[in-house]
Amino acid sequence: MTMQAATRAFDVSAARKDFPILDRKVHGKPLVYLDNAATSQKPRSVIDALTKFYTEYNANIHRGVHFLSQQASEAYDAVRGKVQRFIHAGTEREVVFTRGTTESVNLVASSFLKPRLSAGDVVLVSAMEHHSNIVPWQMACEACQASVQVIPMDDTGTLDLEAYRNLLTPAVKLVAVVHTSNSLGTVNPVTEMTALAHEQGIPVLVDGAQAVAHGPVDVQEMGCDFFAFSSHKMLGPTGTGVLWAREDLLESMPPYQGGGDMIASVSFEKTTYNEIPFRFEAGTQNVADVIAFGAAIDYWNGLDRAAAAAHEKNLLAHATSSLESMNGIRLIGRASAKAAVVSFVAGGINALDLGMYLDTQGIALRTGHHCTEPVMDFYGIPGTLRVSYLFYNTNEETDLMIRALDRGISLLSG
Ligand code: ALA
Repeated sequence: MTMQAATRAFDVSAARKDFPILDRKVHGKPLVYLDNAATSQKPRSVIDALTKFYTEYNANIHRGVHFLSQQASEAYDAVRGKVQRFIHAGTEREVVFTRGTTESVNLVASSFLKPRLSAGDVVLVSAMEHHSNIVPWQMACEACQASVQVIPMDDTGTLDLEAYRNLLTPAVKLVAVVHTSNSLGTVNPVTEMTALAHEQGIPVLVDGAQAVAHGPVDVQEMGCDFFAFSSHKMLGPTGTGVLWAREDLLESMPPYQGGGDMIASVSFEKTTYNEIPFRFEAGTQNVADVIAFGAAIDYWNGLDRAAAAAHEKNLLAHATSSLESMNGIRLIGRASAKAAVVSFVAGGINALDLGMYLDTQGIALRTGHHCTEPVMDFYGIPGTLRVSYLFYNTNEETDLMIRALDRGISLLSG
């Protein structure tokens, strides 16, 4: 991830005006939305793109000679180029539309890994993976008597790179690592980790679900082989996302699902497949959401990303120091390289109860294991409260959250 120095302050008030939902009230209180790692809110332009599609040119793509189908196909196809430029991929052929990060990982597990896996082989993941970057590998390994091994982390939530080097043995067929941890906020050194794996000839998948909204991504500079992410965590709609894969690897992979549009020709005797990336997009695609995803990318392109990142850094610092100054709060995840995500526990108070109290105050944050049960096991806790920020959040929102948290703790400690 590269970042230019911020040249001017981020205009958060102007940014907030682009997100209609931020003006609403919840339980009679102004909404304080601090659950961006679960899903981001959507700017008006994304909502308008969806409405425009269904109002003006809803049609299936790549199948019709009629006007609406042509218009829908052109709009859908144009988004592939937007994604390519957004992540600096070498070619559009490397961009596969999927349902999101989870499907992207499953696609790699099924079409890339499984055919290459034998008994005794290993898939290496980190100790802070989301379930979606663990379970698909376990399922592939179970079928082949291979196993998943884990790169350990320390108490701060930082990966042990020395241990990682030692784990890179000839048995490892893939490294699958998260770029930015959803439950700890840790930003992993994926470029360095990829280079180390490549020294041993091991391919690398990077789970970019939490990274794409927090800074520019350049897959070529990162050097990885697969990069998976979702539209909905980066201002776009749910139900769509991307698998980026190196062209030569994608060419070598069999289809993931069979159906319409992924074929070149079909007969009862023999079917031949379409070229990449269409070979991996079977059936009617999520046309409307992909087009609206394009509007989300346009929004990012119009944003001063360096200033937005500096603003998020400030949000993280303020949230961290505010929580640290409260009695009984323990922060979970203290890595030096962190995105604006803060997980914490509050003494012996149940995170769910506190989360429900905060909800009554209009404050939306996430409680629980955040689909990272092994992380919770590592810290010996059932779950955390988690605040996760995006550029449209403010320090005033953190202050509201802290005051409500203080009241909630008093109430619940009886
Ligand atoms: N993975 C999402 C989160 O962290 C849902 O909340």
